[in-house]
Amino acid sequence: MSLPRLCIVATGGTIAGASARPQATMAYAAGALDVAELCASVPGLDEVADIRAEQFAAIDSKNATPAFWQSLAGRVQSLLDAGADGVIVTHGTDTLEESAYYLHLVLKTDRPVVLVGAMRPATALSSDGPLNLLDAATVAAHPQAAGRGVLVVLNHQILGARDASKTNANRPDAFASPNAGALGWVQDGRVAWMGRPERPHTSATPFTAATPLPPVEVLAGYAGGSAALIRAVGSTGARGLVWAGTGNGSASADAQEALDGLERGGVAVVRATRTGSGCVAASGGLPGAGTLSPWKARVLLMLALGAGMDDIQGAFDTY
Ligand code: SIN
Repeated sequence: MSLPRLCIVATGGTIAGASARPQATMAYAAGALDVAELCASVPGLDEVADIRAEQFAAIDSKNATPAFWQSLAGRVQSLLDAGADGVIVTHGTDTLEESAYYLHLVLKTDRPVVLVGAMRPATALSSDGPLNLLDAATVAAHPQAAGRGVLVVLNHQILGARDASKTNANRPDAFASPNAGALGWVQDGRVAWMGRPERPHTSATPFTAATPLPPVEVLAGYAGGSAALIRAVGSTGARGLVWAGTGNGSASADAQEALDGLERGGVAVVRATRTGSGCVAASGGLPGAGTLSPWKARVLLMLALGAGMDDIQGAFDTY
């Protein structure tokens, strides 16, 4: 039987990070190794799939931008359109969750797209990158991976792109889906599926890589925070603001007044929570992000505004 044809699209990150010191897990250069070196570090990769690999970028993902998301989506889409059975994107973990959700909303495919990263650089003792990459290929090659949207694979877990979040700054088990749990597990070359994403994604959304991404900012609520920063958003050209509020997306009296003023001035405001989990409903006339983190709410708000949607709460209730 022929192996599935998978493309690895390398973008940089710690999975391709290098340091002269094997114990270094924080001081290293992200994106230093090229994709051929990454693949060479994974024994058995060619037994899982017929792999083609390309270097798309070599960035630290803190430098990713909406323009980067769009060009990455364009490249992944063209590989799928050209007949790839699945695509694996190696990516820095810092903003992996944002790229994953963006791709989940804009790609037009049923075939698996898996984002993978690592918390320890390739040169570190006990580097997690090679096994994560082998696991990502195992998931992308699995016959039941199709139709689950974009997946995130790290530390044996298979997470859905909508809900996956980086929840720890250092440890190899940095990723979780606090509201939804894992969609499956991959271990010792075997995949155990446990769920499918409930919300529409990929081919079932009206969004594409060509959907404009107008600027949307994120501001957080905290004790004694100044409302001046919220008011200042109105003069930055931003079309939207996600409020990462305290608790249930709440805002102090001053902040609430400033948020309402922004909304009246034509900036779309969406309330989310800074807590890391939970569900924020609409309140006080401002839409709620539901279970989306502030960073993912920003991605959806950009797409909804870019697609000209008037019903912002409807977009958050749907996607
Ligand atoms: C990055 O996000 O590119 C650096 C950090 C990481 O990959 O863990």
